[in-house]
Amino acid sequence: MNTQLEESRILRNVYGKFATGVSVVSFLDKDKRPFGVTVNSFTSVSLDPPIALWCVDKNSELCESLINKENYVFNFLADDQTNLAVRLAEKNKHNLNDTNCDIQEYGPIIKNSLGWVACSKREVIESGDHFIIFGNVNAFSSYNNEKKPLIFWSGNFQNLE
Ligand SMILES: Cc1cc2nc3c(=O)[nH]c(=O)nc-3n(C[C@H](O)[C@H](O)[C@H](O)COP(=O)(O)O)c2cc1C
Repeated sequence: MNTQLEESRILRNVYGKFATGVSVVSFLDKDKRPFGVTVNSFTSVSLDPPIALWCVDKNSELCESLINKENYVFNFLADDQTNLAVRLAEKNKHNLNDTNCDIQEYGPIIKNSLGWVACSKREVIESGDHFIIFGNVNAFSSYNNEKKPLIFWSGNFQNLE
């Protein structure tokens, strides 16, 4: 019989078989400095009205500020942005100072990505070891480039062949 820890590890591996895109949730802190965190829990919820969600780990140091953020942006990463995704998944490496961003009223928009969706706070629901953050979609755009998406699968970043 598996211990609970082993069960969690097995479940994590099974979840890992579900391939996702990769996005960065970007935002401005109270001093208007740009920050971002790598996430793959982005989900489109509703078109009318437009709503999107993502889930934040309660253990994240950013959790408290993220569940209270009034505005943030989902940036959908391209396959040449792996380094950015890796860095923004590290603790205390969430600043976007050296990242090519366009600072808009909604928050920082990462250039050279595939597209972005700007949200404002709608609802936060506590669920197990995460919070589900629902956002009202206020603005969005896709970049007209020929880039392919960055993929996360089986615990690794992958490119579409
Ligand atoms: C591909 C990938 C997807 C991730 N998705 C999420 C996510 O949806 N929600 C989340 O809270 N953390 C997610 N993380 C973890 C965060 O990027 C990051 O590791 C964590 O926030 C760092 O800890 P800190 O917030 O305490 O600095 C993901 C990491 C990777 C590499």
